[in-house]
Amino acid sequence: MRIVLLGAPGAGKGTHCKRIADRYGVVHLSSGDILRRERAEGTELGKKAQSYMDAGALVPDDLIVEMMSQAIRQAPAGYVLDGFPRTVNQAEVLDKSLVAQKMAIDMVLNLRVSDGVVVERITGRRSCPKCGAVYHVKNMPPKVAGVCDRDGTPLVQRPDDTEEVVRNRLETYYRQTEPVVEYYRARRTVHDIDADGDPDTVAAVIFGKLDPLVRKTGRRRKA
Ligand code: AP5
Repeated sequence: MRIVLLGAPGAGKGTHCKRIADRYGVVHLSSGDILRRERAEGTELGKKAQSYMDAGALVPDDLIVEMMSQAIRQAPAGYVLDGFPRTVNQAEVLDKSLVAQKMAIDMVLNLRVSDGVVVERITGRRSCPKCGAVYHVKNMPPKVAGVCDRDGTPLVQRPDDTEEVVRNRLETYYRQTEPVVEYYRARRTVHDIDADGDPDTVAAVIFGKLDPLVRKTGRRRKA
């Protein structure tokens, strides 16, 4: 199963990709998470990406395409893409590469969320630097404030989650990433999902789209 999950910053891509990966046994490939890992490890790619990420701008296509092509090759049994493709050029390169491998994207889902919700969600997001679990101080708080439920690690705030940078990220989204939604719409069905609601409601709508696809492809859902 090959799924693309599109949406603005804070739409809930990471939150729902994790749930999709758990439910259907596919690999969650987040370009943002991979870049943050490269930064934490101090690699050349991480160093090159740093200034773009901190400013809320996109990392150049050539770096991203190479990084994501490698990640996709390592997930032959299926994946859900989170944060990639993010420019029309990235979408074209992905399509060409899939055609060359006689593969296709099975479903494109587009999480739609209002700008006010984005700012509230992102400024309240906290994550675990050890296991990657994502929380929100109000909407999805951990059991003990400031501490990861899974491993007790103190939670951190992403450096690009300030209100100023979020506004730049939103502006970047409308200018460079929203055209990707139109790119896909011109070629296939894009399933728009209202993502303003609570996480369980949004997840139920997403699963309502993906369960029939799983039945059609004969893939087994994890228990
Ligand atoms: P990336 O990490 O991809 O950031 P993003 O797209 O801005 O998305 P976010 O991770 O902020 O949000 P999300 O939609 O995953 O929301 P989440 O589920 O966490 O990219 C970071 C940077 O890397 C980019 O700015 C760019 O520089 C670079 N980059 C990455 N990919 C690139 C590419 N392809 N090309 C070029 N550059 C690239 O949810 C947010 C919060 O809301 C959480 O606290 C969550 O708990 C809460 N929440 C989620 N859903 C709900 C809900 N339904 N109700 C209430 N709260 C909710």
